[in-house]
Amino acid sequence: MHISKNVSLRDRNSFGFDVSAEYFCSASSIDEVREALTWQQSKNLPILILGSGSNTVFTRNVSGLVLHIAIDTHRTSIEKNTAMVYVGAGVNWHSLVKATVSNGQFGLENLALIPGNCGAAPIQNIGAYGKEICDNLISVDVIHQATGETTTLTKSDCDFGYRHSVFKTAAGSEFIILGVQLELSTLDNPVISYDALREALNLSEPDADISAERVLQQVCALRSSKLPDPATIGNAGSFFKNPILSSQRVDTLRKKYPDLPVYSWTNGCYKVPAAWLIDQAGWKGHRADGVGVHDRQALVLVNHGNGNGKQIAVLANEIYADIKDRYDIELEREPVMY
Ligand code: EPU
Repeated sequence: MHISKNVSLRDRNSFGFDVSAEYFCSASSIDEVREALTWQQSKNLPILILGSGSNTVFTRNVSGLVLHIAIDTHRTSIEKNTAMVYVGAGVNWHSLVKATVSNGQFGLENLALIPGNCGAAPIQNIGAYGKEICDNLISVDVIHQATGETTTLTKSDCDFGYRHSVFKTAAGSEFIILGVQLELSTLDNPVISYDALREALNLSEPDADISAERVLQQVCALRSSKLPDPATIGNAGSFFKNPILSSQRVDTLRKKYPDLPVYSWTNGCYKVPAAWLIDQAGWKGHRADGVGVHDRQALVLVNHGNGNGKQIAVLANEIYADIKDRYDIELEREPVMY
């Protein structure tokens, strides 16, 4: 393990913001994570844990240690129709999705092309096209930052919700994720409940016969058509969560906005697309300084090349205030601001 000083994080965050880390270190084993924690504690420095940086917005240089988790284990055991897959936190998520589907292990196909590493996936319970990681997750291996003790958290310990988990709470943020245990199936029976996915596949029935490989290809096509590739234009995917509203709130809003799309949710509530709210408010394609709102997906804020994190923070605040003003809805951010 090597600790470097004054390291640029430009290639380590998907917005491509040019900030630096006072100290930087990449840990590719649990022992290296422990070693880095011991060093950081001995120097009494703050620490920031980084995966592939696709959900972090850097608004300033980072003081203290940036610890990049690069554990790249990938083990599989198959019994009957079940494939138990253990992946290290440093494995790229999309590579895992492709590898499992091509090895005949199914369940992650709807989550193709989501940027980031496996260690970040449970934190916000990544989800797309009708599935979330918690649908296939068994447990998460973690290390406690202060004590260095390792533990396995079960799925119920993780307290998953819509883009939520225990790791977003004060107690959960004391842990560093080391690896994730997933349960996949060797039976090719993908979930095609998401309307936009079925439409793209030209299927009318939710139980139509279709392969996971087709779903994977279609999800990749859908995402590439709407979402900007961070390698070309810096972004962090959806910038806001979709608000969940009561049926009374939806009724009131629909009187004013009859076209408002709504998706039924649990407890009689509805999920409303933040993209629609932002789009209708006229923000799609908006540019300010070096940043802006993507012209094909209003939920994605982008760096046009010469932007910075402070400008993203300003833009996000403006959108938040406008949406609050127009619809009386308070949007919640998805990415972490630093
Ligand atoms: N819409 C607009 N304008 C736009 C885009 C969308 O009006 O510019 C409306 C349309 O009515 C559309 C609806 O919003 O039917 C929903 O759009 P979409 O299906 O693209 O999904 P989303 O709600 O914007 C969510 C996830 C995405 C995920 C897609 C597909 C959140 C915050 N985002 O987006 O996740 O890929 O569904 O499942 O839940 C991410 O989290 O980074 C992410 C990309």
